Amino acid sequence: MEEKKNIRRFNGAVDRGMWERLGGHRALAVWFTGLSGSGKSTIAHEVEKRLFDRGMRVKVFDGDNVRHGLCGDLSFSPEARAENTRRIAEMVKLFLENGIICLCAFISPLRADRERVRGIIGPNDFHEAFVSCPVQECERRDTKGYYRLAREGKIKNYTGISAPYEPPVSPGLLLETEKASIDECVERVMAYVLKTSAL
Ligand SMILES: Nc1ncnc2c1ncn2[C@@H]1O[C@H](COP(=O)(O)OP(=O)(O)OP(=O)(O)O)[C@@H](O)[C@H]1O
Ligand SMILES: [Mg+2]
Repeated sequence: MEEKKNIRRFNGAVDRGMWERLGGHRALAVWFTGLSGSGKSTIAHEVEKRLFDRGMRVKVFDGDNVRHGLCGDLSFSPEARAENTRRIAEMVKLFLENGIICLCAFISPLRADRERVRGIIGPNDFHEAFVSCPVQECERRDTKGYYRLAREGKIKNYTGISAPYEPPVSPGLLLETEKASIDECVERVMAYVLKTSAL
């Protein structure tokens, strides 16, 4: 890790391994990527509930929520989207240090941005989950009414309509939400997380 001049890291007595042993599981980040309306938030929040019920330490990071606060100053231009994902990745990294399972629900449409996230979080902790759903089905769901506005040209740079989405090449998890039920998708993620987070 690059150290800045005149800024010295303070290493406390409690390290990640200690938090993980206390929690009874490893920390990891599942990065849900997919179109708006594909099911990222629905799946991530249900997984959070099921992990919580098992007494595990978990946190959901959700695109819309961080844009109100931490990233409230950023637009949706390619540069601002890159900065948005960089800040989130750095924040997730801090939570991993505390032994927390991080479920990150972000459209994160560009491969290069996701690879940057993988680089910041680290390849051993970063697990990409592709929440795959045809744009026609996302548009039919139109959970927020934004697809209609994007079609009418009232929202610019809308992923899947007027801005690109680049699917992951080889995601750790593939969740096809048009074909599988919410419960099936959630159970797939649960199995993956339980296996990967075992001490
Ligand atoms: N298998 C499935 N998994 C997840 N959601 C599903 C599935 N089948 C149907 N749905 C429905 O699809 C919608 C997904 O909406 P959700 O808000 O989770 O999407 P999102 O990916 O978080 O979108 P955004 O990027 O806009 O936040 C919900 O209405 C959900 O009930
Ligand atoms: Mg969402």
